[in-house]
Amino acid sequence: MSNRTGCLITFEGPEGSGKSTLIKSIASVLLDIGAEIIEVREPGGTPVGEKIRDVLLDKELPELCAKTELLLMVASRAQLVQETLQPALAGGKIILCDRYAESSEAYQGGGRELGTAKVREMNSYAIGDVIPDVTFLCMVPPEIGRQRTSSRELDRMELESIAFHDRVYKAYCDMADSGEKRFVVIDASKTPEEMMSSAFEHLKKMEHQLLKLL
Ligand code: TYD
Repeated sequence: MSNRTGCLITFEGPEGSGKSTLIKSIASVLLDIGAEIIEVREPGGTPVGEKIRDVLLDKELPELCAKTELLLMVASRAQLVQETLQPALAGGKIILCDRYAESSEAYQGGGRELGTAKVREMNSYAIGDVIPDVTFLCMVPPEIGRQRTSSRELDRMELESIAFHDRVYKAYCDMADSGEKRFVVIDASKTPEEMMSSAFEHLKKMEHQLLKLL
């Protein structure tokens, strides 16, 4: 995108990684300094995407096959990119996105064993050059994540086997070890305050004018 003046920040991690709390805290500080922000989630984030999300997370639909699941995740993403992310980036906004392309790599590529190469190809088709400026990988071992989510009602993905969630975690570990510059690993076994302060260290160094004020 040649007219990109905004900034795309994505948050990734296995179940129970504390992403949502981290996003809320960052959003609140950014609003305090007068930033124009947009918060979105995946799957979902648009009217079409939210309908797709309902199908994807419906635990009454255990028969949804892995390829269909991947295609629906990517379809929701394509809609989000065109309807929301591209205009927001052109308008100088800071976007906080709860899950994005790397979730498909971890869950469908790793968890469902569809493979990284195929998922990357599909992601690339959906997002084009709308690549995040920074991707926070909130890393927490599956057993701790499970304890954190045990008290709530679980959706179709959360109800998957321990082996599935172990593969998801392994895929995120591979990303964390990949050396990709935009990946920033956050130790999600720490407290929310500690997670927030490590995220801020990185945000302050970013190009966007407002983030320098943090
Ligand atoms: P959500 O309730 O938003 O969970 P979380 O708080 O963990 O982000 O549910 C989204 C679920 O969808 C979550 O289990 C991860 C999964 N998911 C995929 O499997 N692939 C994807 O590409 C995305 C975006 C999410």
